[in-house]
Amino acid sequence: MNPINAIAIEDHKEETVTHRRKFVFLGALGVVASVLLSASAVAEEPAAPPYAACLTCHGDAGNNPIPGMMAPKLAGLDAAYTTKQLHDFQSGRRVFDAMNTLAKGLSASDIKAAADYFSAQTRTGEEVYDKSLAKQGQAIVQHGIYGQGVPACANCHNDGVTGTFRYPRLAGQKADYVFNQLSHFKSGERHNDFGQMSRVAMRLTEGQMKAVAEYVSRLGYPLVPRGPGAMD
Ligand code: HEC
Ligand code: HEC
Repeated sequence: MNPINAIAIEDHKEETVTHRRKFVFLGALGVVASVLLSASAVAEEPAAPPYAACLTCHGDAGNNPIPGMMAPKLAGLDAAYTTKQLHDFQSGRRVFDAMNTLAKGLSASDIKAAADYFSAQTRTGEEVYDKSLAKQGQAIVQHGIYGQGVPACANCHNDGVTGTFRYPRLAGQKADYVFNQLSHFKSGERHNDFGQMSRVAMRLTEGQMKAVAEYVSRLGYPLVPRGPGAMD
């Protein structure tokens, strides 16, 4: 054997031994890691609550929806209203792809957990960007529009449009979402309201929808905020 080859063979043996040691070492690490993982799984909550995934779009505590998606605040909605909407998304009476898919994956107890959780969260009002537009909206919300046969929104949605088990809370809702839903009731794209809301929306002009949306979004709790949302 040529001496150079002999050295090459020795080097190769050395490498194989090092490799084997590495594998043994990694194998041991793997066992330690999996023991640690199973220990922490036992120590922590077994699973995230069923509404954890909802917060990705509806925001922390359902009060801070991600911008640009027209997702509503869920914080402060009556549990019965939220439950009805989730049933409507499940059955397809209300249509929005992402919500239809998600709702179909929820069990009755998931729906109850989510509805109870969101109803217990505090909804905060938004800042008013256009105060004169908001003033127009205030008149419509409180008194309706006599000449157009529009009833006061507060007649159904409660004083301060804080909502009931049947009529959703509008106070503090995102203005873009409110405007979007009014347009959908008017066009018939949303029709899970027994015709009540669409009869109102069909009588509103686009400008009037923008005005009510601007106004209701500022309403927080207490009803007349003295913070940045205050108009006077
Ligand atoms: C991918 C983003 C996304 C996720 C995740 C999501 N939602 Fe929604 N959700 C929306 C959007 C957008 C709407 C508005 C749909 C429309 O325009 O009608 C909505 C509407 C709703 C409404 C109607 C509220 C109202 O005021 O009428 C409820 C209730 C609701 N979602 C509950 C949930 C729950 C519970 C979860 C978690 C299981 C969830 N959402 C997860 C995007 C999302
Ligand atoms: C006759 C009763 C009635 C009146 C008056 C009324 N609404 Fe409604 N509103 C409803 C009903 C019913 C729903 C839908 C409930 C459901 O989906 O189960 C609704 C839903 C809404 C929604 C959707 C909110 C959400 O969270 O998805 C908006 C926005 C809304 N109304 C705005 C208004 C405005 C603005 C006015 C006044 C111009 C008004 N409503 C007057 C009955 C009424």
